[in-house]
Amino acid sequence: MFSKLTILALPALAAAASCPAPPSPPSNPSCGSTHPKWTLDPINLSSYYTYTSPSASGPKLGSFSFTFATDQVDYEAQCSGSSVNPQGIFYGSQVFECVTPGGSGSKTTSFSFDSASSVVSVNTTFTCCDVCDVVYTTIGSVKIDLECETSTWRNPDWVAGELYSNTTTVCEPGAATVQL
Ligand SMILES: *[C@@H]1O[C@H](CO)[C@@H](O)[C@H](O)[C@H]1NC(C)=O
Ligand SMILES: *[C@@H]1O[C@H](CO)[C@@H](O)[C@H](O)[C@H]1NC(C)=O
Ligand SMILES: *[C@@H]1O[C@H](CO)[C@@H](O)[C@H](O)[C@H]1NC(C)=O
Repeated sequence: MFSKLTILALPALAAAASCPAPPSPPSNPSCGSTHPKWTLDPINLSSYYTYTSPSASGPKLGSFSFTFATDQVDYEAQCSGSSVNPQGIFYGSQVFECVTPGGSGSKTTSFSFDSASSVVSVNTTFTCCDVCDVVYTTIGSVKIDLECETSTWRNPDWVAGELYSNTTTVCEPGAATVQL
């Protein structure tokens, strides 16, 4: 009798002390849709390149970044990449990994940007809850339209060893939405 009471009392006490976590529900009821909506906002693009003589290209850097959100999950990915290609341009073959702080479950996002066509391509994988078995992968791309200003400075008294020219392009932060 005594031992039976003890056995009955223990689970009740344990339950009162710490509720066992229920299986985590999907963070978003519509998670797993085959038509997710993406938001890239803000999108920042800038570049800088120099010439050390009329024909020799010098240091150059292109920077491209955006914050990526999808209506499937409640966290965002920070995506950024840089380029040391001529004139700081980006080629679509260069893939960059995004960083996703917070959130839970599987989450990876990568992107590429092609300066010539202004197309951003994104691959993202996610699960709808902490320990869900299903991992979704979505792939999409969008052509972006940014307002950019380019200015070039040319050294009026150039002699060998000095900077011959520099060109800076800065774009107004832009945004894009993609309905897949
Ligand atoms: C994008 O540009 C905006 C406005 O200039 C700035 O506030 C923001 O920090 C930039 N974001 C990144 C990731 O560089
Ligand atoms: C997206 O995935 C496809 C197929 O795996 C791959 O060919 C492509 O390079 C990836 N793109 C990015 C931006 O990660
Ligand atoms: C180019 O370089 C000169 C000299 O270093 C600097 O004063 C100027 O701000 C630069 N211009 C641009 C557009 O980057």
